[in-house]
Amino acid sequence: MALKVGIVGAGGMASYHYDGFTAAGAEVAAIADTDTERAKAFAKGRAVGAVYASLAAMLDALPDLDAVSVVTPNKFHKPVSIEALNAGKHVFCEKPPALNAAEMEEMFAASKKAGKILMFDFNNRARPECRAMMRYIKEGAAGTINSAQAQWVRRAGIPGFGGWFTTKALSGGGPVIDLPHMLDLALYFMGYPEPAWCLAGVFYDFMDNRAFKGPWGIPDSASGATDVESSCHAMLSFRTGQTLMIRCSWAEFVEREQVSVTFQGTRAGGMVQRLFGVDGIDSTSIDTCRLFSEEYGVQVNRDIIAEKDETMGRNGSASNFIDAIGGKAAALNTAGEALILMKIIDALYESAAKKRPVEIH
Ligand SMILES: NC(=O)c1ccc[n+]([C@@H]2O[C@H](COP(=O)([O-])OP(=O)(O)OC[C@H]3O[C@@H](n4cnc5c(N)ncnc54)[C@H](O)[C@@H]3O)[C@@H](O)[C@H]2O)c1
Repeated sequence: MALKVGIVGAGGMASYHYDGFTAAGAEVAAIADTDTERAKAFAKGRAVGAVYASLAAMLDALPDLDAVSVVTPNKFHKPVSIEALNAGKHVFCEKPPALNAAEMEEMFAASKKAGKILMFDFNNRARPECRAMMRYIKEGAAGTINSAQAQWVRRAGIPGFGGWFTTKALSGGGPVIDLPHMLDLALYFMGYPEPAWCLAGVFYDFMDNRAFKGPWGIPDSASGATDVESSCHAMLSFRTGQTLMIRCSWAEFVEREQVSVTFQGTRAGGMVQRLFGVDGIDSTSIDTCRLFSEEYGVQVNRDIIAEKDETMGRNGSASNFIDAIGGKAAALNTAGEALILMKIIDALYESAAKKRPVEIH
């Protein structure tokens, strides 16, 4: 019988959850949104069983749901996930996992108590080129990864002014918490080592300048705040001795939007990169997946050709959650990894505030 999933939050990301779940053979039994009109509009033309105004109403009406996906603004990731886990449902939650590590600890504890899967939408792990690169790394082609660089930088990509993305109380922060994908991907390639030290700088430039607004995100709101950072530059070291450089921004003077992880291993280096179109949209984007090695006394570059995926792994990530519940595939990420990620995010903000390195425990 098909697994039954309920989606909470009918915004921009919900369609990827719907497409991924249904492609994996699950049934989307309902969608809940505090804005029921939005939920109704989402359900129209899709095979969605019912519409509710809250997760509580959905759980009351559909006690046989197997899983819940959480697609709300960041502030609600923890309470909605824990409510679903406490009701005995598996949970697939959008990134960032939570507002901070303390919240993530609570979510992790709830998943252990319930004995249910808690996964997150680190969709870049599911991109075809990243799956291919991970296969090479797992098979030992890169050797030990000593160092890596993770970046998601935007020139003019502030996702609206005064909406929930720019209101710290709702989002937890700016690009540090909104763009954790390349940090997560670099950690994934490196074997998710235990972090040791963090040295970071966080900047707040351009957050009042409409010339730095991105072509996506949500409408401006006069009532909300714009009190989050615009960029972060940082260095991490790990208990293993590995190192990682991080760059992320919504707004800073770079040539174009760049999204990449590069790494240097003892057998090969590597790069997965997307250069977005100059207008921020994908039409002129360039994708690269390469390995750099030495073979038979000569330096060799290998291009890994992967299929195109304009959802950037979003559909595949949601499908993987269904396959993981059904035991058909290994889960692409774990709650333990999400806790390490949130500890690093906390350390980025702490180091920047204290203007000195901080130790991560
Ligand atoms: N993985 C990715 O590539 C990616 C991309 C964009 C956004 N996201 C993440 O997805 C999440 C949602 O982003 P979005 O762009 O869809 O936002 P959005 O603002 O378009 O939609 C959020 C929806 O949640 C509803 N909502 C708010 N609180 C609720 C609650 N307690 N219960 C039920 N519904 C509630 C709102 O009414 C709204 O319709 C965020 O956490 C964001 O960081 C991920």
